[in-house]
Amino acid sequence: MKKNNEIIIDNTKKFVKQKLKKAEAGHDYWHILRVLKLSEKIAQKEGGNLMIIRLGALLHDIADAKFHNGDETIGPQIARDFLQSQNLSNDIVEQIVQIIEQISFKNSFEKQNYSSLELQIIQDADRLDAIGAIGIARAFIYGGYKNNPIYDPDLKPNLKMDKETYKKGNTTTINHFYEKLLKLKDMMNTQTGKQMAEERHRFMLQFLEQFYNEWDI
Ligand code: ADP
Ligand code: NI
Repeated sequence: MKKNNEIIIDNTKKFVKQKLKKAEAGHDYWHILRVLKLSEKIAQKEGGNLMIIRLGALLHDIADAKFHNGDETIGPQIARDFLQSQNLSNDIVEQIVQIIEQISFKNSFEKQNYSSLELQIIQDADRLDAIGAIGIARAFIYGGYKNNPIYDPDLKPNLKMDKETYKKGNTTTINHFYEKLLKLKDMMNTQTGKQMAEERHRFMLQFLEQFYNEWDI
């Protein structure tokens, strides 16, 4: 017989898969499964409460504000309603909801008022999935969704973006590398996350070098 925790994880997977059925490819159920796996991998080295980490990873993008007119309260509320239906203690539910509220990159523009090892681990996993080959693929998917240009040599990256400008997402996808992706390596919370980010970071630099070589032929 399956243990209670495993039943809850299975229920959560089914719930998230159903909810994200129509999500765009950068934030679909595959992204969730990758973040889950990366979180578990980091947790093997860093510790943390594995149940909170797995549930937080599964629910972290349940309703991305980008796709809900910028509303940042919908995701945490959906997660809370679901978790409360799952026989979990209030304390665990609130810790996971806090994680979902804090995890997004756009919230790094503001001072965070909550932190935990579990949040740090899931955030590292989410950031790892935004860099490297997969991160590049996701950036171009998002740029396509926004109908942004791939590159414009006359548009310089805006390195001092505020949160609202970032959320509008009007930039070239190559500039997004400088505005976000190349910054992530140094924003990793855990030692394990930092190490895992190195190779993905190098790959992005290599990609950019090749890109400019082809552009300037
Ligand atoms: P988070 O989900 O952590 O808040 P974002 O919403 O900023 O992160 O980004 C989610 C994904 O969309 C990432 O892969 C990110 O690189 C990509 N993305 C966000 N904004 C842009 C943009 N303006 N151009 C290209 N990709 C973007
Ligand atoms: Ni995510």
